[in-house]
Amino acid sequence: MQDPAGPGRSDRPPWWQSAVICQVYPLSFQDSDGDGRGDLPGLLSRLDYLCELGIDAIWLAPVYCSPMRDFGYDVADFTGIEPCFGSLGDFDRLVQALHERGMRLVLDFVPNHTADTHPWFVASRSSRNHPQRDWYVWADAGPDGGPPNRWTSRFGGSAWEYDAGTGQYYYHAFLKEQPDLNWHNPEVRQAMAEVLRFWQARGVDGFRIDAAAVLAEDVKLREDPPKPDADGQTPEPERVERVYTDYRPEVLDWLAELRRCAEADGPSLLLGEVDGSGDRIVDFYGDAGRPILHLPLNYRLIDTDWQGPLLRETVEHYLTLLDALGPEPGTAGARQGGPGKPKGWPCWAVGSHDKPRVARTLGPERARLAALLLFTLPGTALFFAGDELGLEGCPVPSEQSRDPFERQLPGFGLNRDPQRAPMPWSDAPQAGFTTGEPWLPLEPGHEQRHVARQQRDPASMWSLYRRLIALRKAEAALGVGSCFGFFTADALLGFQRAWAGRRLQVVVNLAGTPQVHRPDDGRPARLLLSTRPDPEAPGSSEGIRLEGYEGVVLVLD
Ligand code: NOJ
Repeated sequence: MQDPAGPGRSDRPPWWQSAVICQVYPLSFQDSDGDGRGDLPGLLSRLDYLCELGIDAIWLAPVYCSPMRDFGYDVADFTGIEPCFGSLGDFDRLVQALHERGMRLVLDFVPNHTADTHPWFVASRSSRNHPQRDWYVWADAGPDGGPPNRWTSRFGGSAWEYDAGTGQYYYHAFLKEQPDLNWHNPEVRQAMAEVLRFWQARGVDGFRIDAAAVLAEDVKLREDPPKPDADGQTPEPERVERVYTDYRPEVLDWLAELRRCAEADGPSLLLGEVDGSGDRIVDFYGDAGRPILHLPLNYRLIDTDWQGPLLRETVEHYLTLLDALGPEPGTAGARQGGPGKPKGWPCWAVGSHDKPRVARTLGPERARLAALLLFTLPGTALFFAGDELGLEGCPVPSEQSRDPFERQLPGFGLNRDPQRAPMPWSDAPQAGFTTGEPWLPLEPGHEQRHVARQQRDPASMWSLYRRLIALRKAEAALGVGSCFGFFTADALLGFQRAWAGRRLQVVVNLAGTPQVHRPDDGRPARLLLSTRPDPEAPGSSEGIRLEGYEGVVLVLD
């Protein structure tokens, strides 16, 4: 899509920095043909909904040809569309319709593994001498005649599967039906770069790189050491430190290579799934000489305990890592306008198809505060379709689970089915999602939470999302302004954003009881937005009263 600024206007911040990106899980968004599974024509019919909400781009989870063992993350053809989702023609229509509405498409890209039905794997396992044998990770049995070593799959059990036909084991970081590609092989890297080019030529604006940190394993097959604090409550795959099966140094080189390839013919956004909890997240940005990902995904807002000082420390620590804090206007070292040049652009995500719903984890009231933080902290904002309705997920008993993660590791609360429940749209049968039997049950209470109802209700979560996104677009301070002045006081947490002389303060009350906020320099404050639909007029010499779990955006004059 052409940048409206036109070629040569590289002084403008890239579109994605202030963007709001909505992740769409196509199976659960909208069904068009009554088979109970969402599809591309269904999504196409709902684009105006996304547009009305004000989102800038969708991240579309995989729609490639797939046996669907892992619901599309097991790819049998990287350049074809799985018939249950539609056709390449539908895909092209989707890209065009998004672009016509000024929105962009970020496509899930799954480079770490394929399905075991992918022709590359079928060829690779056909004979030890096949030219594509080395496209996957093969090893001989260990000294005891069993698997080559004790590496475990992220989905439980050994990460090695024996292939009787050729008498060797292949490695799979996830399901045994998802054999890992061997990224050490330059032919594999080239083949995956061609996949990127294929979709770029169809107009895709960026990619979300699945399992980006796990592309490499130690070639000497050294054992991952046990985690000292793991016990019987720890799911088996988390009982080891993944020293040799995660974050290997060569991964950064390969991702940098992908970035060069993705940008060869113009800008393309690269998001990446990494373990964002530690400081190593910074490594995935690379540097000016070797840029890597634009946005390593960051879920700290929902992975953190929501205690004021801890939440503040989490947010500030991340922004400090990226050099994305300050300066405060008017102080020594302050520059006019934005935050200077951070090491990496921040991003915040409050949901995904892999994570329990934010409204479940934090509860409905604090989920409203999470929305406020999501759209007012500096960085790109991402949410999972349905978060804007405050969906909490549909409980699915382990025995009925569709998710292979739960089926292989029952009893640890890992089931991802709940957050994948279909979108409720209206009062129609099956909430307007399908005319058939939905592939997963609709979540209980959808009658109160569906889109049509929330759109009519100014107090709804949907209305809050819409107001927040509109405010973010109207206020450059929220999109690209500097961020400084974090504070916690009792149950309050706040910070400031500023741009070109305009100064905003965001304050959230993390407690269920009212709190009074007194701006410490005594500046007069005006209310710009509250998470409550009917806020009190806040300003008085006594300070600003925030109701329980209320969050506000103030203008400091
Ligand atoms: C990460 C994806 O987000 C998840 O849904 C999937 O199961 C694994 N990668 C394996 O592809």
